[in-house]
Amino acid sequence: MTSTLEEETGKLFGGLWTSLSDQQYRESVELFTKRAVANKFDLDWLKGKKCLDAGCGSGRYSVALAIHGAGSVTAVDVSVSGLAEASRRASEFSSIAFQQASVLDLPFEDNSFDFVWSAGVIHHTSDFDRALSELTRVLKPQGKLFLLVYGAGGLRWKAVQALRPVVVDLGMKFIDDAIGIAGLPANNRKHFMDDLFVPIQKLTRFSELTSKLPNLGYGSIDRWTGETFDHESNPIAQLEDIKKLERITHASLGLAETEPQRYLTRLAHATAQMYVDVAERALADKTLSDTNLREIVIGEGNHRIVATKF
Ligand SMILES: C[S@@+](CC[C@H](N)C(=O)[O-])C[C@H]1O[C@@H](n2cnc3c(N)ncnc32)[C@H](O)[C@@H]1O
Repeated sequence: MTSTLEEETGKLFGGLWTSLSDQQYRESVELFTKRAVANKFDLDWLKGKKCLDAGCGSGRYSVALAIHGAGSVTAVDVSVSGLAEASRRASEFSSIAFQQASVLDLPFEDNSFDFVWSAGVIHHTSDFDRALSELTRVLKPQGKLFLLVYGAGGLRWKAVQALRPVVVDLGMKFIDDAIGIAGLPANNRKHFMDDLFVPIQKLTRFSELTSKLPNLGYGSIDRWTGETFDHESNPIAQLEDIKKLERITHASLGLAETEPQRYLTRLAHATAQMYVDVAERALADKTLSDTNLREIVIGEGNHRIVATKF
């Protein structure tokens, strides 16, 4: 049984995957290989392994695991519509089995999988620690856990979190239309709709994440720092992403029909402009060290780790 919150989260994501063209989907699958190679992950290790893709979304990583020779991939998600879309995209891979389940209550025995992959999921659940302990429970000793979770800090997250209470009053369709008018591509639409509307969005310090792992029984922890998300690669790229929020909120001004919408869209636009302004000032400040500039503008970025269980 999934909770109302999980259903709401699942519904949001399920509706976002269909906007990807086949080409964009293929590129999203290829990112797995690019990132694994850039971070010296031994792809041959996957051959014959029993894998779990926990919170599989569009199934892009399940497909990537199958392509790299996983013996089986069990792909779970709370989103019924997302699972339907993922099954359609992955129909040629017989080693992948899709199933509706929550990472908070996985329907698998202890020590079931060699590799548990969970990218961008547990920070959207109502109980981060429980999700982490469930992922660990189903992992075999000597098995590996891959996690991607949102890191803390940075102006982009601050802008997103300042905009969330405003855009929620304008509604998803309104903002989706504004994204369309702003002319952003489909993968950007997904990225912003997810960030602006997902019910839970927990940002975690790397120190907080890694402090939890030894107690759960993890030994070595490899941090992936190569091939980051494009918008985290440098402060200028991050500024460009914040500017997209400004473009979306600017487009929303033209959509306002009622007085409340006019006030809310002005508030949203002024908010986004303020973050663009602060990011531009930081980039222009020659007294800032590269480290400080990164910390101010990007923050910690997404955390990606591979942890091996004792
Ligand atoms: C940002 S998407 C990531 C999808 C995929 N892992 C990827 O990287 O492409 C987050 C996914 O987590 C799923 N999700 C959210 N809460 C979940 C839960 N409690 N259990 C399982 N999946 C969940 C959502 O439905 C969504 O598909």
